[in-house]
Amino acid sequence: MQKEIDINKVARQHLEMEEFFCGFTVKGVATPTTPDQKESTMTKAEKQKELDKIFEEVRVCCQCELVSTRNKVVPGEGNPNARIMFVGEAPGADEDAQGRPFVGRAGKLLENIIIACGLKRSDVFIGNILKCRPPGNRDPKAEEIICCLPFLQRQIEIISPEVIVALGAHAAKTLLNSNDTIGHLRGHFHEYVTGPGKPPIKFMATYHPAYLLRNYSQENRKRVWEDMKKVLIELNLPVPKK
Ligand code: URA
Repeated sequence: MQKEIDINKVARQHLEMEEFFCGFTVKGVATPTTPDQKESTMTKAEKQKELDKIFEEVRVCCQCELVSTRNKVVPGEGNPNARIMFVGEAPGADEDAQGRPFVGRAGKLLENIIIACGLKRSDVFIGNILKCRPPGNRDPKAEEIICCLPFLQRQIEIISPEVIVALGAHAAKTLLNSNDTIGHLRGHFHEYVTGPGKPPIKFMATYHPAYLLRNYSQENRKRVWEDMKKVLIELNLPVPKK
């Protein structure tokens, strides 16, 4: 009986969250990707070619023990000219089966958040710290992050997004090289440094969609939406209204 009540409650909360992130309308013109016009930067096709090279390296990578348990590698996907790049922790079971990032329940919520922002999944790039699933969805090990991070760092350099949105503590702490909690890191901009002499990239951390599903509350939902609104304002994109 107790279990039935909990399931009903969880179902109601998920519905409430879905309705919340689905009920926005956009006024104004969104320019969610970088136009292919600057001579000094790579064209979209050139970026895609470089990203494909990384995908191929990831596909045959056997630098860490995850090679023995993975089904498919999950290199990341999206628009090479994305202005926003989302970075999660590591693939889960659904992603490991399909070879695509954020395609399970957390992925559905992330997609709803992207749509609530007035964007499409194909406007942004979605990647992860680890490209292979840790067995049982355990936390990434330090040695796995050390092996895998250079792939993501190269993806960031090629795509050159204007804003990186780290989803959850692992992504935020790894990319910012910080030990702070996600509660402290989220909600304001940091700078992600790509290399000496290169301009830093604006960096927003927010709660991971899986955390939001597990720890549903209107406050947490509101916090994520507030974080995303800051990203839209930073990019001069229209903020959708209810
Ligand atoms: N969680 C993540 O961090 N990444 C995925 O790709 C899916 C779930």
